[in-house]
Amino acid sequence: MPLPVPVLPEGVDPAWLPPAAFRAVGGRRTLIRGSGPLAETVHGEVAEACRRFGGRVVCDARPGDAAYDLVLDLGDEGLGADDLGEEGFACAREGGTTTVTASGGRGLLYGLFHVVRLGEAAFTGGWAPERHRPALALRMLDHWDNVAVHPVMGQVERGYAGGSLFWEDGRARGDLERVRAYGRLLAACGINAVAVNNVNVHETEAHLLTDRIGEVAAIADVLRPYGVRTHLSVSFAAPVVLGGLPTADPLDEAVRGWWAAATRRVYEAIPDFGGYVVKADSEGQPGPFAYGRSHADGANLLAAAVGPFGGTVHWRAFVYDHRQDWRDRTTDRARAAYDHFVPLDGEFAPNAVLQVKHGPMDFQVREPVSPLIGAMPRTRLAVELQVTQEYTGQQRHVCWLGPMWSQVLRFRHGPESSVAERARGGLVAVSNAGDDPFWTGHPLAQANLYTFGRLAWRPDAEPREVLDEWIGLTFPEASERLSDGLHAVLDGSWRTYEKYTAPLGVGWMVQTGHHYGPSVDGYEYSPWGTYHFADRDGIGVDRSVASGTGYAGQYGKPWAELYESPDTCPDELLLFFHHVPYGHLLQSGTTVLQHIYDTHFEGVEEVEEAREVWASLAGLVDRARHARVAERYEEQLSSAREWRDQINSYFFRKSGVPDERGRRIY
Ligand code: GCU
Repeated sequence: MPLPVPVLPEGVDPAWLPPAAFRAVGGRRTLIRGSGPLAETVHGEVAEACRRFGGRVVCDARPGDAAYDLVLDLGDEGLGADDLGEEGFACAREGGTTTVTASGGRGLLYGLFHVVRLGEAAFTGGWAPERHRPALALRMLDHWDNVAVHPVMGQVERGYAGGSLFWEDGRARGDLERVRAYGRLLAACGINAVAVNNVNVHETEAHLLTDRIGEVAAIADVLRPYGVRTHLSVSFAAPVVLGGLPTADPLDEAVRGWWAAATRRVYEAIPDFGGYVVKADSEGQPGPFAYGRSHADGANLLAAAVGPFGGTVHWRAFVYDHRQDWRDRTTDRARAAYDHFVPLDGEFAPNAVLQVKHGPMDFQVREPVSPLIGAMPRTRLAVELQVTQEYTGQQRHVCWLGPMWSQVLRFRHGPESSVAERARGGLVAVSNAGDDPFWTGHPLAQANLYTFGRLAWRPDAEPREVLDEWIGLTFPEASERLSDGLHAVLDGSWRTYEKYTAPLGVGWMVQTGHHYGPSVDGYEYSPWGTYHFADRDGIGVDRSVASGTGYAGQYGKPWAELYESPDTCPDELLLFFHHVPYGHLLQSGTTVLQHIYDTHFEGVEEVEEAREVWASLAGLVDRARHARVAERYEEQLSSAREWRDQINSYFFRKSGVPDERGRRIY
């Protein structure tokens, strides 16, 4: 039985799967061989496309059938499907037939979406066999969704796209059709796992693990046909808060028994459950430190519980002192994850994955790559990115993060392997989607979600080509003008954002709490470990080994040496690693202060230009989408001006040094 394609509620944007994206497939004759739930999903997709575009689909035809334009073959014959794994596929085109072969259902689904992406090219000429397998086995989204609306954080913590897709009125949505549509979008960009609740596990959400697991199971049921497994964030204190035990000590027998029993019930409800996500001893969440135990003890406790069922624990490395004294210059938050976890390398169970944020601080506009990723060879690591734009414009500003993520994934701590190669436990990102009609608040922020999935599949892909794919799918009839326009507003948008906000790796000059808009000293005298140390003479954090916090020494060669000296440290990270005078000459040939002035003026000009480009695309983009983006450009521009004027005025007042070019500073 073909699985019907989800029907979107009225007014919801189809994102990168509009019906027209299926035109090429839908006009052809397709044969599907194989059976099972994912084959039914594939069948449903092709059947719907054919219904629209006049093609024909046949399932499991016997030999001697008529010629087909497309054969989707779930089996182990032909094209060497045997070593493609559950998710890989092979494809070729010969004698007028395009063939996709997979040995697993997910592979078949990914193969179909590959053909969809190719469009007419999938049916043109002949092409040699190709094989596709994901570089990373786990490609996961963490939703920071609360079931109950949190008094400070709202429903989706750091969510800029409305409420939760999964939870409504304090429970799992009764109608999960939109969640199904979400699963389908995720499959089309290669994402195969989702954690459905916030890493900060509040009281209501703690119960999802036990008495409310049925609600999670209902969500898992609709994501499964799209190859997406469900994970859950859990509280380390669950044995106490849910089980009534006196302790959550990871070495206590009763605690171990409690987790084993609770986990068995989870798997009874969700046989393919992915596992747990844990934020422990971090920003007030409970953890093993309370019992004098290590984070390996904590992670291994849960790993032992899910292990018999094939599950994984994602243990987050985001552990630091959030009650630091700003007067104390010896404590450096950037050092924290490395200092906590490197001594534990080799102690984690094989199914415990240490999930590390890509930078040492917290998803700033520009950070160096976390040294921890290069320092735990005997631990399975997952790298965590933030698709939700907490520090990058909160989906009111255009900020396409493909280039940033690509840089991170290609970074090599040493000669042996890149970050992507070290991320054996997968690539994870905080989702930017919600129940907003455009899914992501800003329609162009859809490109971030799509790009994340595709880079997780192929970390060495050129981000610009991924963007081309996204454009091709989202705007199937895109003219060259539209495509050029979209590139013009998206390609450089991360650097533009960096220009008008955070110069030279400084970070944190944001308003406190919600993190939107400028406040240069907002975090300067706070307990969060987030300082820039600007005074009348200079700015930046000395993280050198010679005279600073020693953070630069957490890297191996060549980075430790390169970052150690202000003369060799790359300009874009200078203030992350060094405190320098305003007159310090950058490698670019300009001074730090003049760079601050110049980039802030340029950043605003670039937003003005982008807004004009967008305006010129009216008529080429559907009305609702165009209007939403245009409206957000107004906000982006006024916010960018605010950033420019506050930052420039602040540093002019501190330094007394005017802009060389005499532009207006307040
Ligand atoms: C950031 C964010 C928090 C979040 C935390 C985390 O600090 O502001 O809302 O809980 O990261 O990653 O756990």
